[in-house]
Amino acid sequence: MSDRLFPALNALLPGTLIGGFLLLSGGVQAATPTKRPTDESRGEELYERHCVACHGAAAKGHGPATQALVRPVPDLQGKVLIDDPTINILMRGMGAMPSYEQTFDRFDAKRVLQHMAKLEAPANPPPVPTPPLPPQPDSTPAE
Ligand code: HEC
Repeated sequence: MSDRLFPALNALLPGTLIGGFLLLSGGVQAATPTKRPTDESRGEELYERHCVACHGAAAKGHGPATQALVRPVPDLQGKVLIDDPTINILMRGMGAMPSYEQTFDRFDAKRVLQHMAKLEAPANPPPVPTPPLPPQPDSTPAE
């Protein structure tokens, strides 16, 4: 019984080993991302990594690193231009802002500006507690 089973197993085994190996390497390949990130996700990633420390999550210039700067970072919310002069500023740096020439190319500069231009105050800001209004006197004039 067993000597009939084992040759069959032995014949199978090399095959299963190779098959298993191929499957495994195939699986590893499939796990690496094959799709390029979208322009939006690339812009967001770059902003989070390189800009948010100064310009802040809403581009109002209140990032945590601004504590260490002598001059405030300007409030750029809704004012970000996506044009060649602004891309030049990013690539070369300006004032306290470093140059990004060594970090990314002009296409990425445009992506990050596109992301920055869309930043705004959070849609649902935490509710500010307001004291209850005092009872209003009846304003309808008595005639
Ligand atoms: C170290 C802090 C700092 C970092 C990091 C930083 N910035 Fe700035 N940024 C500034 C300051 C300060 C100014 C104002 C410069 C001035 O007017 O002298 C500025 C100005 C700007 C402006 C306005 C340029 C104009 O037209 O006047 C844009 C747009 C901008 N930054 C985008 C970015 C982007 C995008 C990043 C990330 C890739 C970034 N910044 C990273 C500090 C920073």
